[in-house]
Amino acid sequence: MLDLDAIYEARERVAETTRRTPQEYSYALSRTTGADIHPKLETFQRTGSFKLRGATNRIAALSGTEREAGVVTASAGNHAQGVALAATRIGVDSTIVMPKHAPISKVNATREYGANVVLHGEDYDEAAERAHEIEREEGRLYVHAFDDELVMAGQGTIGLEIVEDCPEVETVVVGIGGGGLISGVATAVKGLDPEIRVIGVQAEGASSVVESLDRGEIYEREAVDTIADGIATRRVGDLAFEHIQERVDEVVTVSDPEIALAITTLLERGKTLVEGAGAVPLAAILAERFEYTEGETIVPALCGGNIDLNVLTTVIMRGLVETGRYLKFRTVLRDRPGALQQLIDVIADRNANIYGIQHDRTSRDIGMNAAEVVIDVETRGHDHVEELVAALRRHEYEVDLLV
Ligand SMILES: Cc1ncc(COP(=O)(O)O)c(C=O)c1O
Repeated sequence: MLDLDAIYEARERVAETTRRTPQEYSYALSRTTGADIHPKLETFQRTGSFKLRGATNRIAALSGTEREAGVVTASAGNHAQGVALAATRIGVDSTIVMPKHAPISKVNATREYGANVVLHGEDYDEAAERAHEIEREEGRLYVHAFDDELVMAGQGTIGLEIVEDCPEVETVVVGIGGGGLISGVATAVKGLDPEIRVIGVQAEGASSVVESLDRGEIYEREAVDTIADGIATRRVGDLAFEHIQERVDEVVTVSDPEIALAITTLLERGKTLVEGAGAVPLAAILAERFEYTEGETIVPALCGGNIDLNVLTTVIMRGLVETGRYLKFRTVLRDRPGALQQLIDVIADRNANIYGIQHDRTSRDIGMNAAEVVIDVETRGHDHVEELVAALRRHEYEVDLLV
């Protein structure tokens, strides 16, 4: 099992390549939750995620012949960038296998950090199979994304920073994919103060740890489905599972809409961009997936900010829908002059702002003297949506909600 000394050693090795990331108190999040929220802003790490820490610690330990042979790994994105930069910094050749549908921003960034990128397989596990073939064919060292003590120790350096920069911390909340991050962080945090609680969070569509803990052995999912691509793994690592069983107090799950809400909350209230995997700790706090008390000092580790802009657009729209800030509905108007104006007046009277209108007389679903109208509106919250829909119905418009 990993110990605190290994994490202090890792800190020496990663100091030159990685950044000590900020730890901030958030007034907005503390007001919303009633707890004292101090996010660890690991999104400001070079490469945009913590993975650089573990990769740097692993690659720094290579022997002379291993350096010459180069390294290979598989990753959905963040570990890819970490390994690419860590290897390039010390002149080691790297080949990274990424799933075919990995976010384009992550694929491009990995190439820019100097790696040869191979796109293969539907998910992380299929990419990993190909990477192991390359390991055998080319004699490269496989840098595991999570199930390796040196990688875990590198990730654990975040835990040292959390306790040093926020000594009053009572609870640390960490996302789990393969489990390397939480293994390192729990070892560091509990090593410094065993009283600090460590809570792990998985996405519902990629959860395996809660099931594994219940069964007492690792449970592997058939498939994964979540917007948090950084933690979309079918199972937790063997070594990581042992650390989680021993050092993590509780593991909970969050849904994709809850993750979307956490991303938009961080953008709007915290002025911070995080990816899905980076938002799960805050999602668990906002959705009260574990118990905490008024004023409790909680550090959500926001560990990655590499989100595809297309995904971000969808997430923002979903976040607006979740909070009642966006409404799309369909209605039918008599096709006569002024009918559209009357509808718009009802909306304007309720102070809702129209984003867009589609007006269609050709739809087969309506009478010949009618027009179908689809309207997108900016609203101020769930109460405002209810008020607007009620007003439209009072004016005898049929309202089909489309979101
Ligand atoms: C942003 C982010 N958070 C958390 C994790 C989970 O790390 P691990 O796979 O070590 O559990 C990942 C994994 O890539 C990640 O990218």
